[in-house]
Amino acid sequence: MASAHKNIVILISGSGSNMAVIARAAEKEAWRSRWGVQVAAVISNKPEAAGLELAKGLGIATAVVPHTSYESREAFDAELMAQIDRHAPALVVLAGFMRILTPGFVQHYAGRLINIHPSLLPAFTGLNTHQRAIDAGCTVAGCTVHQVTAELDHGPTLAQAVVPILQGDTAAALAARVLTQEHLIYPQAVRAFFERAA
Ligand code: GRF
Repeated sequence: MASAHKNIVILISGSGSNMAVIARAAEKEAWRSRWGVQVAAVISNKPEAAGLELAKGLGIATAVVPHTSYESREAFDAELMAQIDRHAPALVVLAGFMRILTPGFVQHYAGRLINIHPSLLPAFTGLNTHQRAIDAGCTVAGCTVHQVTAELDHGPTLAQAVVPILQGDTAAALAARVLTQEHLIYPQAVRAFFERAA
């Protein structure tokens, strides 16, 4: 059946809230009947990721490729690619997937690999984006959906959303405010990817 569908494979490491909003949008907006698009699988590098149970509850196949079991990034990425490619994906979605990918992996999925990053790229690539934005005295923060290229947190922007940074904000408060926007723009960006392809 895989060839009859445009499969999405979503990679997670944690709570999987972005994964869940994409999967729910796919159901609610009937992506399968409109474009033949379905979320085929959710794969985590962490066995304890809460998002795995969330995915099962949504009726999505899950798999775990624990990065700690591999002696190199290349060996881990090779197994990850093997698991992903079982679903012949039209699109691979990184949703809180906290691993740096090898150039070979990125090349393999060139043009069909996207990520969401909790900053207004090109500002604040990498980790601890919210605290760094507060410390820098920024008055706004946000999130970016982008195509993944070999350089970490670079690649063409597909969507962005902006939120204010408020007086006395903590990183946690700002992260929560940004996450509400991630949940809006990520499903929209995935949908737009398939609308463009249709
Ligand atoms: C999101 O803020 C994402 O941008 C960041 O990690 C968080 C993942 O949240 N990289 P979730 O797993 O989608 O709930």
